[in-house]
Amino acid sequence: TDAKTSRIPGFSSLGYERRRDILRTIVPQHSVQQMTQPLSMELAERLIENAVGVFGMPLGVATNFIVDGRELLVPMAIEEPSVVAAASNAARMVRAGGVFRTQADEPRVMAQIELIDPADDAAKAIVAAKDELLAIANATQPELVSLGGGARDLQVRCGVGGENRSVAHLEIDCLDAMGANIANTMAEAVAPRLAALSSAKIGLRILTNLADRRLASAEVLVPTSALGRTGYSGEAVAAGVEAASRFAEADPYRATTHNKGIFNGVDALLLATGNDWRAVEAGGHAFTCRSGRYCPLSTFRVAGDALWGKLEMPMAVGIVGGASRTHPVARFALELLGVTSGQELARIAVSVGLASNLAALAALSSEGIQRGHMRLHERRSQDI
Ligand code: MEV
Repeated sequence: TDAKTSRIPGFSSLGYERRRDILRTIVPQHSVQQMTQPLSMELAERLIENAVGVFGMPLGVATNFIVDGRELLVPMAIEEPSVVAAASNAARMVRAGGVFRTQADEPRVMAQIELIDPADDAAKAIVAAKDELLAIANATQPELVSLGGGARDLQVRCGVGGENRSVAHLEIDCLDAMGANIANTMAEAVAPRLAALSSAKIGLRILTNLADRRLASAEVLVPTSALGRTGYSGEAVAAGVEAASRFAEADPYRATTHNKGIFNGVDALLLATGNDWRAVEAGGHAFTCRSGRYCPLSTFRVAGDALWGKLEMPMAVGIVGGASRTHPVARFALELLGVTSGQELARIAVSVGLASNLAALAALSSEGIQRGHMRLHERRSQDI
């Protein structure tokens, strides 16, 4: 469902009932109804073991987003004050000059099967039997295969951490699922045949969360004029954001906090849509170390009279399976976004991550974050 416009002046000062009324103009009444009902104990019992209760978390909506031409109100589940406001403010700066331009790789999940003490010609034997192994994997997922997905490729990495370990990687098109269950089922299914082909003992059979074939990126060009704030010119803020980016590029201590600001936005969206944010966190942190050093996931540079920024990271998310279809709030969130594929959700996730990051860097390189942050903290303690 497309929001006609995500620019809703005064949205933050409305009461929550009025905000919900606005959402009712975008998604059906019953969907908003679902969002207002906490997770039932019945569902909690189905989702996890030993359930004793349900943990509440504020659900907000960030305004002002335009991602690849689509106006979006972005659902965010987060307990930290000022994250929703900051993302909305950054999205407003971005829309002053354009949109979040995004890309996402095909949805590929990779399973690892560890082979211990393989025979010398194990890799050759496995690769020669690739079609048979892919067929064994695909036989476990008739529905995925009928929809056009399935295991696509198989590779073997030899001598991983020593001569006696090889690792088979099964690459799977998981369509609109996050893919963990699909990958793990397939890994377990092909393992006995891999053991026979390689004369190896089988070790672990599990997906890798280093989803480096499943990257998503978002890029923005923000007019310098949109970055100005009380006491700070747009030029000064743009230069400050570039300097903050360079600081993170030079120092892992800063890069970690810089990336935390990105995950403020990413995780809030992933939680709201029922996705596994731990998987995306793990993948992001590992991916950003690929040069051997911990780096920022995003980069900003002054570009003429604009500020250019780009975020690229693994984004293993889905819109089917897991909690995304069972949790009522996640169903609402996906409906509000109107996404029809996992890739589309991935593109929005990197946009929100980049917005949160930009907002933090713009504040840090001008008045600092504490003023706005503490104002919200105060409001919270008064309200409570
Ligand atoms: C706080 O949640 C996030 C920041 O620390 C991010 C940053 O320093 O870039 C403000």
